[in-house]
Amino acid sequence: MAQEKTKRGGFGGKIAAILAAAGSAIGLGNIWRFPYITSENGGGAFILIYLGCILFLGLPLLIAEFSVGHNSKCNPIDAFSKIRRGWGWLGALGLVSVFLIMGYYFVISGWTLNYTIASATNSIGGNFGQFFTDFTTATWKPLIFTYLFIIANHFIIIGGVQGGIEKASKIMMPLLFVILVILAVYSLWLPEGREALANVFTPDFSKVTGKTFLDAMGQAFFTLSVGMGAMLIYGSYFKDGTKLAGTAISVVSLDTVVALTAAIIIFSAGVENESGMQLAFVAMPKVFAAMPAGNIWAALFFLLLGLAALSSTISMHEAVTSYFVEKRGMSRNKGAWIVTIGALMLSTVASLSLGDWSDIKLLGMNFFALLDNFTAIVMLPLLGILTSVFVGWLWKKEDMKAELTAEGGIDKATYPVIRFLLRYVCPVLVSIVFIFGIIDFVQNL
Ligand code: TRP
Repeated sequence: MAQEKTKRGGFGGKIAAILAAAGSAIGLGNIWRFPYITSENGGGAFILIYLGCILFLGLPLLIAEFSVGHNSKCNPIDAFSKIRRGWGWLGALGLVSVFLIMGYYFVISGWTLNYTIASATNSIGGNFGQFFTDFTTATWKPLIFTYLFIIANHFIIIGGVQGGIEKASKIMMPLLFVILVILAVYSLWLPEGREALANVFTPDFSKVTGKTFLDAMGQAFFTLSVGMGAMLIYGSYFKDGTKLAGTAISVVSLDTVVALTAAIIIFSAGVENESGMQLAFVAMPKVFAAMPAGNIWAALFFLLLGLAALSSTISMHEAVTSYFVEKRGMSRNKGAWIVTIGALMLSTVASLSLGDWSDIKLLGMNFFALLDNFTAIVMLPLLGILTSVFVGWLWKKEDMKAELTAEGGIDKATYPVIRFLLRYVCPVLVSIVFIFGIIDFVQNL
């Protein structure tokens, strides 16, 4: 057993654990998705509901996932089956989902690379909407950037847990925070920025509908990367003595601060009426272009987006790679190649589905939108329900308690709260939202 432990990689310490997990959480979800979902749902009121979802659903689920990983110290499939025989499929379901997310996530990640370069070299031109459409529907250009991004991931992963993921997180995350602060200070310094912000953050409860809760919960799960094995595998790399709840709270806090700050940066630019993908890739460059030295600000913004995406995609890649290494007995190199090649193929289809293959539709959606919607509407809530039921009901009570309250774990007073949330609150609330989500989805078909 001791030998088995030393053979596996692991993070060097607590800071590494927090930075890596925060890196997984903080991604396109915070900077690209959160602001546009907030603006679509009427701003302040949505944010309040979202914060409730983060606290009462996302945080307990994150703790649950960390503890399954940390307890079993193995890949997501073995982790579940080690705790309860016959439940490895739950880990597999998470890995399939995270792989599907990779398919479209890498495409957007590739865009950030092109936009960083195009902004820095001032070559976006005057028509931002046109630039976006021309670029994203082209055949080769977006593919090349996506491939570059996937290859960058690959090299971080084959560097190992400590030499690759930990090292990259320790460089990327501080850089990300610095860029974020610079952009936030700059946007708050603009008087019209402060005014635009006040408008967005004032809660307007008249806009709250069932869909608001749906979007808030979906966003909370997405942004915390829960249920898909990525946080589980990182938890399995935590050193003994790492405080699981403490780490989860740090990750959730950092993630929330980044999402709110990104919203401040974007909304202070006065673009809250834009929606969807256009918000970050069309409206923002337009705003930057009107500022002095705007292309530098724009380049910084897209660099921020790219860094956030990279630190998230390595956790997705790692989760799937760990399966090939530990379960199929491959070398890390070989396992990583399989994931990389799979990601290259899937993202090729996703990217082409926006352009050359946009006529091919299923349920009225192109492949890119299908991956996004299927994972967000079906897989995220489903995995949330299953994970909370697994930890709350199926994990032997004493074992779960021992893991959660072990040295460095959760203190005895908070433990019952977490257990209650996982046993009752998460399964019930998420199921309700899930069912309404499916109904809403089917009605809109
Ligand atoms: N949390 C990431 C973001 O906000 C996205 C994400 C969703 C993710 N599920 C994941 C990342 C699973 C890693 C693993 O952008």
